[in-house]
Amino acid sequence: MNILMILTPKSEVIYLSTKMRVRDAMEVLKKARFNSVPLLDESGHYVGTVTEGDILWHLDQNGYEDSLDMRLKNVKRIRDYAPVSVDEEIDELIHKALGQNFIPILDDRKYFIGIVTRKNLISTYIKKVDDNKEEVVHKNEVLDNLYKRRSIRRFKEGITIPQEIIDEIVKVSLVTPTAMNRRPHEIMLVDDPQVIKTLSELHQRGGQFEKAPYLILILNDDEKEPNAYLANSNCSALLISLLLAVESFDNLGGFWVSTRYPEYNRKMLNAVGVPERFSLYGMVAFGVKGEHKPANEPLNPEKIHRNKW
Ligand SMILES: Cc1cc2nc3c(=O)[nH]c(=O)nc-3n(C[C@H](O)[C@H](O)[C@H](O)COP(=O)(O)O)c2cc1C
Repeated sequence: MNILMILTPKSEVIYLSTKMRVRDAMEVLKKARFNSVPLLDESGHYVGTVTEGDILWHLDQNGYEDSLDMRLKNVKRIRDYAPVSVDEEIDELIHKALGQNFIPILDDRKYFIGIVTRKNLISTYIKKVDDNKEEVVHKNEVLDNLYKRRSIRRFKEGITIPQEIIDEIVKVSLVTPTAMNRRPHEIMLVDDPQVIKTLSELHQRGGQFEKAPYLILILNDDEKEPNAYLANSNCSALLISLLLAVESFDNLGGFWVSTRYPEYNRKMLNAVGVPERFSLYGMVAFGVKGEHKPANEPLNPEKIHRNKW
């Protein structure tokens, strides 16, 4: 953002000039009710900052009567606020504003063109933070992904998903949460159509995922996590994470394949050599979308309870 956007222009700024007498400057300060104002020379260049304290000090040092007719250029100033060029970045101003009520702004020929007040600067920053917040809310890709996800059961045939994408998807299995962080799960990616066909025939609902180009088996190591509830929770957390990872890539989709009968499951696992200590808790079938579905209508919000039913 440009400094000009938050500049209080010279025409609206109360300033003093070096040729002014102290008595007139006191009047200006009294009316303006500012305790510090910019001081300009006759040609409009910024000279420094006059404060009420400077005037009081001057009166005290030189005697009241003698001081009043002296010119401001002869008044000793304690501290001049540092000016900034109009080309400066707004972010630079914030550091200066920590130590001064306003920042004098100069054009490229060093003429005073106005000030940026600390108040203006703070309001600008608050707005900037608010705008960023909105951006975060509106550009939340994780939530977008959750809201648009649907079960995709039809896939385009003969399209190989690039290996980097497959790697990204399966990597999700290495980071999902598990109860007590036991990390008892393992997965098996299957992309050999013949193996998928075999598994599909052995599955309780034969043929359901036969045409899926990719399948991921979600396995629990029953020695590491013997509790079936926790195993199921771990595997479900992993399964939905994988589905969402799939959905996060344009044109990829998939669906949850449940595996609720241990006897069918074991036959499937035997077919691909999975050791006995592993149980199958579900599968993800995925590929390039061969169907498109609109996002689901959300459930009735009354289903969301808070504190008490
Ligand atoms: C625990 C669980 C098991 C599921 N099992 C199967 C399944 O075996 N076969 C299938 O086609 N879809 C299965 N689904 C997908 C659901 O049928 C689907 O999520 C639901 O109908 C809502 O549709 P949507 O995913 O398009 O929103 C399962 C979903 C969950 C959560």
